[in-house]
Amino acid sequence: MDHIQVNIDHLKNFISKDQVYAFRDEITGHIDAINNKTGKGKDFLGWVDLPEQLDNALLSAVEKSAQKLASCSEIVVVTGIGGSYLGARAVIDALNKQFANIVPGDKPIILYAGQNIGEDYLTELLEVLNQKDYSIVVISKSGTTTEPAIAFRILKNHLEAKYGREEAVSRIVAITDKEKGALKELANKEGYSTFIVPDDVGGRYSVLTPVGLLPIAAAGFNIRELVRGAVDMRKLVLNNTDMDSNPVMLYAAARNALYRKGKTIEIMVSYLPNLYYLTEWWKQLFGESEGKENKGIFPAGVGFTTDLHSMGQYIQEGLRNIFETVISVEKTKHSLLIPEDQLNADKLNYLAGRNIDQVNKMAELGTLIAHVDGGVPNIRLSIPEVNEYYLGQLIYFFEMSCAVSGYILGVNPFDQPGVEAYKKNMFALLGKPGFEQETEAINKRIKND
Ligand code: PA5
Repeated sequence: MDHIQVNIDHLKNFISKDQVYAFRDEITGHIDAINNKTGKGKDFLGWVDLPEQLDNALLSAVEKSAQKLASCSEIVVVTGIGGSYLGARAVIDALNKQFANIVPGDKPIILYAGQNIGEDYLTELLEVLNQKDYSIVVISKSGTTTEPAIAFRILKNHLEAKYGREEAVSRIVAITDKEKGALKELANKEGYSTFIVPDDVGGRYSVLTPVGLLPIAAAGFNIRELVRGAVDMRKLVLNNTDMDSNPVMLYAAARNALYRKGKTIEIMVSYLPNLYYLTEWWKQLFGESEGKENKGIFPAGVGFTTDLHSMGQYIQEGLRNIFETVISVEKTKHSLLIPEDQLNADKLNYLAGRNIDQVNKMAELGTLIAHVDGGVPNIRLSIPEVNEYYLGQLIYFFEMSCAVSGYILGVNPFDQPGVEAYKKNMFALLGKPGFEQETEAINKRIKND
């Protein structure tokens, strides 16, 4: 099987191969603990076997629901935040035609809501929805998250006003817990069709459940290929203790060896703009999983060559506490040649007849050499091409690498206690019932500040 590859050759100025390979036994133990569900956060390890467990019945139900949404909608509004939308957005943006929102094809456009509390964002979204046929996929595992709950209340009202209550119900799919939470209660009362987020799968590990699969299928992509990629990656990385052929072992070991050498920031680099949200998903996966107990690699992201004209300066010559992981895509979807020009006033004829991607690849190689020379270790992650199959591999690869890395750090990679701090303050400031004491405390605090 062709699979994504991790290359650590460009770390040699910074750490030795032995320092990377020294993690072998430890990682083997962590993969076993993950596989046998004995490690920290063991109740949230459902994602490990998910690819194998996704049966035909569930996949068919997701595809059927997606077709129903697509048949009546120019737009599907995916309403969710964090792990409840980033995985779907990463895959959809990676696969979609990049200007599909301007010149739509025969599949619905996917728009997003509930991932912010921007009043103008929602108002302007409603202005678009006034003019288009649309439906809603609302996703919240807890069913109580404020951002998507507010967006959904507004969208639901709009949908009901536009189509009437009965048709609005048929245009809404809710993805949530099997029994708890306000969204589940609402879905039961209104009679929405629903899919379940399994108890043992946390938000950021849920892209291969209906959370990711339904929006991806509604956007017109092949979820079976995505799952096939994940299944193959699972086979490759479980029960394989050979670091050279196990990309999870190599990546988790390399990034942790660098962390121990003071490289506390990992920058995910991609050279294709359609991978922007893949980086956003990766940032969330690793940031929320590792950043706790005053530990963790800070995940950042850049899109080159665009950001070479902004962040490039810092990366080349700023503080030397960073390393880069470069996603290198071997084959682009299209071929576009640079033409010959008789006048050659722009002096570009030396590039005539070459593909745009050849130029991009030379920018990639030139940057890698410059950054390594400038003191920035580079891990290279190569992917044969951006399609459903390799994205499925990549999702499982990152999920497993993240869990292993969390265990190396000694944290629970499946909880996110720190996220509650802002919520508590926001609820106190908004006067949410049940937060009276917090309201009093925060008002005093503001007065004294
Ligand atoms: O990864 C996580 O668990 C979080 O990012 C959640 O996905 C996010 O907070 C949304 O939660 P919920 O799906 O409960 O609305």
